Amino acid sequence: LYIGIDLGTSAVKLLLMDEEGQIKNEISREYPLEFPQPGWSQQNPEDWKAAVLEGIPALLEGFDKSQVAGIGAGGQMHGLVVLDEHDQVIRPAILWNDGRTAQEVDYLNEVVGREKLSALTANIAFAGFTAPKILWMKKHEPENFQRIRKIMLPKDYINYILTGVHCTDYSDASGMLLLDVENKCWSREMLDICGITESQMPKLFESYEAVGTLLPEMAQKLGLPENVVVCAGAGDNAAAAVGTGTVGAGGCNISLGTSGTLFISSDHFGVDPHNALHAFAHADGCYHLMGCMLSAASCNKWWMDDILGSQDYAGAQKDITDDKLGCNHVYFLPYLMGERSPINDTNARSVFIGMTMDTSRTDLTQAVLEGVAFAIRDSFEVARSLGLDIRRSMICGGGAKSPLWKKIMANVLNVELDTPASEQGPGMGGAMLAMVACGAYPSVQAVCDKLVKVADTVRPDPEIAARYEQRYQQFAKIYPTLKGLYP
Ligand code: XUL
Repeated sequence: LYIGIDLGTSAVKLLLMDEEGQIKNEISREYPLEFPQPGWSQQNPEDWKAAVLEGIPALLEGFDKSQVAGIGAGGQMHGLVVLDEHDQVIRPAILWNDGRTAQEVDYLNEVVGREKLSALTANIAFAGFTAPKILWMKKHEPENFQRIRKIMLPKDYINYILTGVHCTDYSDASGMLLLDVENKCWSREMLDICGITESQMPKLFESYEAVGTLLPEMAQKLGLPENVVVCAGAGDNAAAAVGTGTVGAGGCNISLGTSGTLFISSDHFGVDPHNALHAFAHADGCYHLMGCMLSAASCNKWWMDDILGSQDYAGAQKDITDDKLGCNHVYFLPYLMGERSPINDTNARSVFIGMTMDTSRTDLTQAVLEGVAFAIRDSFEVARSLGLDIRRSMICGGGAKSPLWKKIMANVLNVELDTPASEQGPGMGGAMLAMVACGAYPSVQAVCDKLVKVADTVRPDPEIAARYEQRYQQFAKIYPTLKGLYP
């Protein structure tokens, strides 16, 4: 048996899976997310630890624990976790969707320079990336900065708690802006620019490599054998891509989670010359391009939970029938946390635009779902401009549970969308990486070939897609028009 951990932004989801891909059990544990100032986003690593350590025994209840061979995690990317000389957490982790680093991003992109950053790391600076957060800490919390002995990413903290090893993997490390992605080593020059040294960085592994086995006290606490292998795991997007079989040349996965991502796998290293898409290492040992929007399913969650005060997501969508698709007169810009790809603007904000006296609540719900699809299309357009002709994609994440949202996505993007039999992208990917680390499969490709099955396919409808094509052309004009109004 294998344990897959999906260390997300709202909760950790754990799954127990056998070598044949059968999911034996799943549980999730939520933890708080703080927004201490507008655009800031933090979480306490101790909360992740408590959720995982409490969750694993609950996951295993009623199962033979001696059968557990491996653990693998996919985690929210980019979050800055800093430990002191006693390996204690120094401050709350600054998360991937935190926008406090606008000045540091400007410094990196304008003063150090985009060309240099891209040459050193394959990417430019975005507010959510880890390096600008280190510079922010250096400036705003110099005492805390002085105390840093280890820097790591969210799921690496969990792996450290389980094994005692300070480790990370290439896919997640790619999002720090400290890794030379092509050559898979820390960039000395980037570390210098951030005022840190290689001794403060975790050891690098491929995602499917074992970093160690459980510490004796952890094995005892969790009731697991001490020889349980913990693999390096991956950033949640790379792990989700593994979970949906998006590996090797030319695969595509869309994740509609808290963030929305377009993930294009490749068998070789390549950079988007405009740096709008991230060029990262993949969990299969190769590379990928990725566009990431900061608020995807979270826009719908905000709209439903916070604004409408309703949990009835399916009910809110039931009147959005096919004849309405592509005919909505309202647009929504999904920039509740600013935006990363492709516009890279921490100050961008959400708007509804185009309401009339007969606009209904349902029209606004539809606009929210469509706004997210249009914003993913923005990243698709960048990929198309690079000559990547994407005709079909996997889709996963909480938003993919809505058949309507998938239909909107398929028609806005004009691609066929395959949903895998298991919705558990990152957790399943984590468990699959652990299977490779334990030698149950010879490669990530092999475990994907065996375990990933497509459950259903949504095809675009030519009429609806044509209507959405026009709507998208209008949508694409809104942000450039409003840009000057944001502070
Ligand atoms: C990717 C990104 C998000 C987080 C979400 O660059 O920032 O998708 O990984 O957990």
